[in-house]
Amino acid sequence: MNITSPHQAAELIKKRAGKFSPQLALVLGSGLNKLADMLNNPIVIPYSEIPGFSDTSVAGHQGNLILGLLNGVPIACLQGRSHSYEGKNSAAISTPIRTLKLLGCESIILTNAAASLRKEVTPGNLVLISDHINFQFQNPLVGANDDSFGPRFPSLQNAYDSEFMEIASQTASELNINISTGVYLATLGPCYETPAEIRAFKIMGADMVGMSTVPEVIIARHCNMKVLAISTITNMAVGMSDEFLTHENVLRVAKMAAEDLSQLIIALINKITVSNRQVDSDVCT
Ligand code: HPA
Repeated sequence: MNITSPHQAAELIKKRAGKFSPQLALVLGSGLNKLADMLNNPIVIPYSEIPGFSDTSVAGHQGNLILGLLNGVPIACLQGRSHSYEGKNSAAISTPIRTLKLLGCESIILTNAAASLRKEVTPGNLVLISDHINFQFQNPLVGANDDSFGPRFPSLQNAYDSEFMEIASQTASELNINISTGVYLATLGPCYETPAEIRAFKIMGADMVGMSTVPEVIIARHCNMKVLAISTITNMAVGMSDEFLTHENVLRVAKMAAEDLSQLIIALINKITVSNRQVDSDVCT
């Protein structure tokens, strides 16, 4: 069992990072590793060297924490994530997110690859997650609550920050990038869905389906980080097209769309961190 605390991880990272103090966390999903290459003066720490960080076993996910400047903003980037279907304990998901909070990140941007359940939203499109349905039938907060991070019964109302979503929509339109909003349904995986499941998910109100992000959002909101989450649509959901789904195809489309997503993130992080600083100073006055 993994009993390493995020405090131990944060301590090690602080030693390696010296004075560098990240303000914003970024989690890169399938096929989006390239964005990490754009950080200036990167400090790369493999997960295998950080206590409590679990190496990811999934193709398309590298296992590094990268600290550096992106468009002048100090960020901490998780290049690769753990998924519930890997069968690890929930600390594999909660430790990295809580560590980022301890390092000073008050906000987090999560990215993922997802299937679209809406005909008009097609592969290559970006979608801002406005809400989620947790269809994983598990929750990373099950077990003893660590009150130092957050309450026993956290709210998930407004889990996806509406101001961040507004900034992201505006920035996308300035860059001529097509973006919509939608509800993300997380399955446990690792199987892709059946056509009958997709029909049921549509009735439930889902716009996208994927196998990640929701546990991380739960942990991030528990410790009061502000969340922005963006899906890259890599395929139409099963039964909505003739395509036979494979992880290789998902990765291929995610890589093609990575250009738009990278541009968008680079342009919006300045605005997000400025908006955070304003909130901080409002609170202080
Ligand atoms: N289903 C679940 N997760 C996914 C899919 C899908 O079709 N595409 C990308 N991630």
